[in-house]
Amino acid sequence: MTNRAFTVAIDGPAAAGKGTVARALAAHFGFTHLDTGLLYRATGLRTLDGTDPVEAAKTLKAKDLEQDDLLRTPDVAQAASRVAALPEVRAALVDFQRAFARRSGGAVLDGRDIGTVICPDADVKLYVTASDEIRAQRRHNELVNKGHEVTLDEVAADLRSRDARDSARATAPLKPAADAVELDTSRMSIDEAVAAAIAETERRIAAK
Ligand code: DC
Repeated sequence: MTNRAFTVAIDGPAAAGKGTVARALAAHFGFTHLDTGLLYRATGLRTLDGTDPVEAAKTLKAKDLEQDDLLRTPDVAQAASRVAALPEVRAALVDFQRAFARRSGGAVLDGRDIGTVICPDADVKLYVTASDEIRAQRRHNELVNKGHEVTLDEVAADLRSRDARDSARATAPLKPAADAVELDTSRMSIDEAVAAAIAETERRIAAK
C-alpha cells in the first residue's frame, strides 16, 4: 500500500490529545502530519491586527504556520475558533488540506472536521476525547511549562467556550464521523493512546 495515498483523520475537542496521537502515529508509520488547527490559528492571529478573516485565510503562507509559540496562546486559540465559524474562511482552507491528504506515502490530519468534511473517505478515522477536567489539566500544564501565566479555571473556560462554539457552528461543526472509532484518553497514558491508534491503523492497512 506504500505508494498509494493512505489517510488518517483524527478529530476531537480541544486538548484531548489529538496532536500527540497524530504526531506519534505519523512518526511510527513514516506518514506526514498536518495539524489543521494551525491553519485556523494562523488565520486568527492575522485578524488580531484588523486583517479581514477571509482575506487572511486566502493569503495564508506556509511560513505563517511556522510560528509555534505565537500560535499556541489562549488568545490566538479563541481567535482561531471565531474565524473557524465563518464558512468562507473554511472554504478557503479546504483545497490545501485535501491536497495534503492525497500525498503518496500516507498522511495524518488532525482537526475538527477531517473525518466528516475534509476527508470523508479517510482510511482511518479516530475521534479522540477526554473528560473536561483532564483536558483542562493537560492544557494548563502545557501552557505553564511554556511560561504562560494562566490559571486552571481560565484554561477550563477557554476550552468550554471554544468547544461550544466549534460544536454549535452551522458549517463543519465538531462531531464524530458516523464511522469514526472513539478513543477516550481520560484514563490512558500517552503510550496507551498511541498504541491504540497504531493498532487501529494497522488493522486498516491490513484490510486495504
Ligand atoms: O486544534 P486547535 O485547538 O489548535 O484548533 C484551534 C481552533 O481552530 C479550534 O477551536 C477550532 C478551529 N479548528 C477548526 O474549526 N477545524 C479544524 N479542522 C481545526 C481547528
